[in-house]
Amino acid sequence: MPPGVGWWQTLGNLIMTLLIFQFVTGFALAMYYSPSPEAAHASVRHITYDVTLGSFIRGLHAWGSSVIVFVVALHTMRVFFWGSYKKPREVTWLAGVVIFQIVLGFSFTGYLLPWDQRAYWATVVGTRIAATVPLIGHQLLVFIRGGEEVGALTLTRFFSFHVMLLPASLMAFMLAHLFLVRKHHIAGPVEPQKGPPVPFYPNQLFKDAIVLLVGVGLLIYLAIAFPPALEAVANPTGTDFSPRPEWYFLGLYELLKIMPPGWEVVAAVIIPTTVTIGMILLPWLDRSRSRHPAKRQWVIFSGIAVILLIGLMTLKGILETPPEHKAASTEAVAGKQTP
Ligand code: HEM
Repeated sequence: MPPGVGWWQTLGNLIMTLLIFQFVTGFALAMYYSPSPEAAHASVRHITYDVTLGSFIRGLHAWGSSVIVFVVALHTMRVFFWGSYKKPREVTWLAGVVIFQIVLGFSFTGYLLPWDQRAYWATVVGTRIAATVPLIGHQLLVFIRGGEEVGALTLTRFFSFHVMLLPASLMAFMLAHLFLVRKHHIAGPVEPQKGPPVPFYPNQLFKDAIVLLVGVGLLIYLAIAFPPALEAVANPTGTDFSPRPEWYFLGLYELLKIMPPGWEVVAAVIIPTTVTIGMILLPWLDRSRSRHPAKRQWVIFSGIAVILLIGLMTLKGILETPPEHKAASTEAVAGKQTP
């Protein structure tokens, strides 16, 4: 490795470890789970209340998705601020951008699987976003839902994405990503330090091990201290449930809410698509030779603007969480909900 590699370069390995946890706990859950509207909720209830260590495994998987989204966001920001997407690492970055979308896809499809009120209504709202896409919106909505409404086909569709297509794609892109990281080596500090390359063992391995212990320790703590909730079984006819997406989609959801009628397409399609295209093209848009943030100011300012927009909107969403949702999660935390 180049001299000067340190703590910030441990995040990639943390993501890999957390993903192994997701694969193992997801496999265990799939052995008990049944993807049909009649059986899904009951099977998750069975896992949570009857199966040995079921609640813990479910907690690891549910919290794992949040922790992974958080660490992937950190890893992306660190690569962005370090300018590590520059030549010769453009394709390493591109593979990362695809992985980012896959990780969000995992969370979106997994959220529906417990088939409780929260899962159902969040998916109704989330999939409705597809309908705002110009020209093909309705067809897209019907494709994602497997019909006009969220129902049995939505569940089987989301399940097959969640356990087949997304894991296979993630594996392929992750292997490509890791191969490229090995091929081009880590970029090192923004201003290269003088000196010979340093070995991975023992200093970097030690840092990696500390970060892994803290990350995995935090995940285990969250799974035990805040077991995942299971609300009442999904009721497609009830209209009194106010939907809430997961925290990492909350920013987008808030943005959608503040749009005047007829402008939803801006929040639902135009802004996310522009950010994604910006990320894809970043290595070619930023032509500065130096990786130093001071030498690529407009890129850094644009990045900070996007991070602030997402951060502030997410904060707004968290602060405005209706009391009934806070009450539901407190009950779940205290383990008081009736099976
Ligand atoms: C499954 C998710 C991912 C895994 C397992 C992963 C793994 C890794 C590892 C092990 C490294 C080397 C150590 C480090 O820099 O932390 C790395 C570097 C890198 N990653 Fe990722 N990564 C993932 C997602 C992403 C995403 C979402 C992006 C960007 C959108 C990205 C872009 C990069 C780039 C450009 C490098 C090279 C950094 C440098 O040379 O300094 N990765 N990744």
